[in-house]
Amino acid sequence: MIHFYHVTKKFDRYSSALLDVTFHIEKGEFVFLTGPSGAGKSTLLKMILRQMTPSDGQIVVNGRNLAAMRRSQLPFFRREIGMVFQDFKLIERMTVFDNLSFILTVLGVAPREHKKKAYTALRAVNLHHRMNAFPLQLSGGEQQRVAIARALINDPLVLIADEPTGNLDPELSLEIVQIFAEANLRGSTLLLATHDRELIRSSGRRVLTLEKGHLLDEHAAPAEPHAARGGGGFVNWS
Ligand SMILES: Nc1ncnc2c1ncn2[C@@H]1O[C@H](COP(=O)(O)OP(=O)(O)OP(=O)(O)O)[C@@H](O)[C@H]1O
Ligand SMILES: [Mg+2]
Repeated sequence: MIHFYHVTKKFDRYSSALLDVTFHIEKGEFVFLTGPSGAGKSTLLKMILRQMTPSDGQIVVNGRNLAAMRRSQLPFFRREIGMVFQDFKLIERMTVFDNLSFILTVLGVAPREHKKKAYTALRAVNLHHRMNAFPLQLSGGEQQRVAIARALINDPLVLIADEPTGNLDPELSLEIVQIFAEANLRGSTLLLATHDRELIRSSGRRVLTLEKGHLLDEHAAPAEPHAARGGGGFVNWS
């Protein structure tokens, strides 16, 4: 579903974000992407949406070679991908409902279905009572949950999320991961970037680790010293 072949991204002669990155995520997988700040996580996610193009290498998403895709095909391609951005990207002059309704229009969903779909998506993140609020009237964590509801609203084929729990407390983070897990069960393929080692550990999912633009070998990645807690088996590096 998501294939990177020797992908390198250089911004100029001196700075690069990704170096010879190769990995494959199959349909139906739920994978975490981690690594220190500046390791290249956001860059990698932006490339999946073709918001950035590689300096070298190839990317294939949902059977499409992104380099060969025409500009005119981009909106159709992006409709199949849900994205939670690190900075949310909510439209500030629109209410929460209008933010969701706007996306549903883009996705081609009939207006008569908007209320029901928006309510269901907001209920999942426990914000159905804030439909008529404007983004700036919400806390950071609430805005983040609206961004998650928006990304999940129409069961995207691929769901990409950049630090989707960055502003949430640990309990809420676990709930959000549960919501992602349900989307995964409904068929979405997931790639979630996070710094949160505890969240990754407790989920037991596959993990891609970036370090200074290099993807660490999944099998060679060091298991966390705490992984043995509770009988081990928390970290699934395979
Ligand atoms: N548009 C750009 N121009 C120049 N350098 C950039 C650009 N975007 C990112 N970089 C550099 O690429 C590297 C990777 O950035 P990226 O945002 O992908 O990291 P990240 O892993 O998402 O970090 P964080 O955890 O802080 O969000 C950084 O060194 C960053 O400064
Ligand atoms: Mg980032």
